[in-house]
Amino acid sequence: MGTLQLNSHCGLSSNFSAYLSFKLNTCSKTTFTSKNLSFIKRGKIRAVGTVPDQDQAINTEATQPEEPPSIGFAFVSSVLLPDGTPDVHLRAAPGGQKLRDIMLDNDIELYGPYARPLLNCGGGGTCGTCIVEVVEGKELLSPKTDKEKEHLKKNPKNWRLACQTTVGSADSRGMVVIQQLPEWKAHEWKYEKQVPADESE
Ligand code: FES
Repeated sequence: MGTLQLNSHCGLSSNFSAYLSFKLNTCSKTTFTSKNLSFIKRGKIRAVGTVPDQDQAINTEATQPEEPPSIGFAFVSSVLLPDGTPDVHLRAAPGGQKLRDIMLDNDIELYGPYARPLLNCGGGGTCGTCIVEVVEGKELLSPKTDKEKEHLKKNPKNWRLACQTTVGSADSRGMVVIQQLPEWKAHEWKYEKQVPADESE
């Protein structure tokens, strides 16, 4: 069984609210488990059943400032790593931005063979080369534009043009899972969302 390699150099925020479990059906049957992604699951520590006195509350606020809202992303590459495991890149970014900008700003491959400036329209919505597959988090995304409907009318419904897709707003939190370059991907994988026991009660 292969192992998951997480290329996480982004300083992920601890306010991710999603709890993820990936099952990848690759040639090596790799599984992304909640254990592998346990750092995503770290949430805020809450006191239960007691009310801190005022000094204590002030000290707590002073030492643990509220993190600004952000959205977590898991970008799955279209190709496996040399050892046969999936290549997943975890990032975090404020909402209200185009998915294209988030990907390019975070060194996530978007255009594949169309990366050179003259081979794509640079975000104008006319070339149709910035396609992504939305695996999780479509509720955070803006509705499809007319340009997307035109370019993607023969593609699966969860394909989007990254340059036309706005992710959430400035106060959004959540998780978005994106398959990069879906038209070039070399492996199939299945995504399963896992809700922790304490939230399913
Ligand atoms: S960059 Fe050309 S359609 Fe998105």
